[in-house]
Amino acid sequence: MLLSIPDVLTREQVAQARQILDQADWVDGKVTAGHQSAKTKDNMQIPEGHPAAQQLGEMILTALGKNPLFLSAALPLRVFPPLFNRYSGGQSFGTHVDNAIRQVPGTPHRIRTDLSATLFFAGPEEYDGGELCVEDTYGVQRVKLPAGHMILYPSTSLHHVTPVTRGARICSFFWLQSMIRDDGRRSLMFDLDLAIQRLGRDLPDQPAAQQSAVQLTGVYHNLLRQWAEL
Ligand code: NI
Repeated sequence: MLLSIPDVLTREQVAQARQILDQADWVDGKVTAGHQSAKTKDNMQIPEGHPAAQQLGEMILTALGKNPLFLSAALPLRVFPPLFNRYSGGQSFGTHVDNAIRQVPGTPHRIRTDLSATLFFAGPEEYDGGELCVEDTYGVQRVKLPAGHMILYPSTSLHHVTPVTRGARICSFFWLQSMIRDDGRRSLMFDLDLAIQRLGRDLPDQPAAQQSAVQLTGVYHNLLRQWAEL
């Protein structure tokens, strides 16, 4: 499932982040690429563990921790510290699949990458090209979102970034391990959660609807109990 999550960050947060990103030291993005994807990866990154990346990463993770849509869709267990990349002057990233396992820098922990996230820090009007193209069962989905919005997609997907031919595309990208590994199961949980919320919101005065909501909430938690890996 591909999901666009609007307004993860406010305009003020995006503006503040852009000031920091514009002054940061950018290095060749091949530093975090695997052997194969390094051949097709052409962009700039802020080094892992750089103070700017840490500060902005915390801003992002704090915002996501309070975002109901993200929490419901991702059911996150562990989130990789956000990284930052910049494409300009024709830079692109060819078709690849993200590594399945990532070592969390500076810790003994590894995470399994179930979901990949890209959070946009430049608006679509600021650059040409730079679309994130994700291959899913419905074909290629082309993604280019307003600043502050984020796309979440299964890390199992092949994907690429088209060349940026004007301006600069600045994003954060990271991975997460979900409590539910399987994308199909996780999508079912998300659908069920949305339906329960709708019952509570749209039919608050109908006892039969509210009874159903309670019963379905039971189903939700019992499925989570069966499927969650912690
Ligand atoms: Ni990737």
